[in-house]
Amino acid sequence: MTQLIRFICTLVIAVLLVILGGFLMKVYPHSFTDTTNNPAINLSSNTSGSAVDRDLAIAYRRQYMKALSAHYRSLEAILEKNAPFANQTLTHINSLLSLAEYMPEVFPPGTAMTHAEGWGAKPLIWSEPDNFSRLIANFQTSLETLKTVVNNQQNPINAIESFTQVRQTCLDCHSTYRVRQP
Ligand code: HEC
Repeated sequence: MTQLIRFICTLVIAVLLVILGGFLMKVYPHSFTDTTNNPAINLSSNTSGSAVDRDLAIAYRRQYMKALSAHYRSLEAILEKNAPFANQTLTHINSLLSLAEYMPEVFPPGTAMTHAEGWGAKPLIWSEPDNFSRLIANFQTSLETLKTVVNNQQNPINAIESFTQVRQTCLDCHSTYRVRQP
């Protein structure tokens, strides 16, 4: 009888410990995972990055590029198709300029496309850092120029020409460093 009671007590304590353990993991997830789950730490200290961090970084970068694209398309609608929102032109240019500042960051090492994936960011980006940085700088310069032209309220044709330059800087980078999704 006492043996049975002892057994039951041990069982109850074991179950309580498991429940408490799970609770603590939920309440304090950061103290358990802080350093290992931080993508900045993982990606910069480890060239391949962990599988999850790599996927997260690439997925984020694609959303970031889509954000660029949406501002770019909005400008196209205003400047080239005369959509009646000219008062928002500078907002889109400024948004592109501030997003452009993060361009180097969204390409951490270990986020190149693999041969098996077949599309994405070419590994060449990380073997030609100077050229890649130059293309980012060109992109930023073209946006600054467009901003100046729009601010000075010069003739709309000039704005369209400057906008074409911005498009060219997107294409220059894509044609060298990106493989499109088939
Ligand atoms: C300095 C290089 C560079 C510049 C400048 C650049 N991109 Fe990209 N872009 C890339 C690379 C590399 C990829 C592929 C990223 C990947 O799939 O991981 C990409 C991907 C994209 C994608 C596809 C995202 C997806 O969902 O797969 C879009 C859309 C895009 N860029 C739009 C733009 C637009 C619009 C501009 C200019 C306003 C621009 N990009 C400027 C390098 C650049």
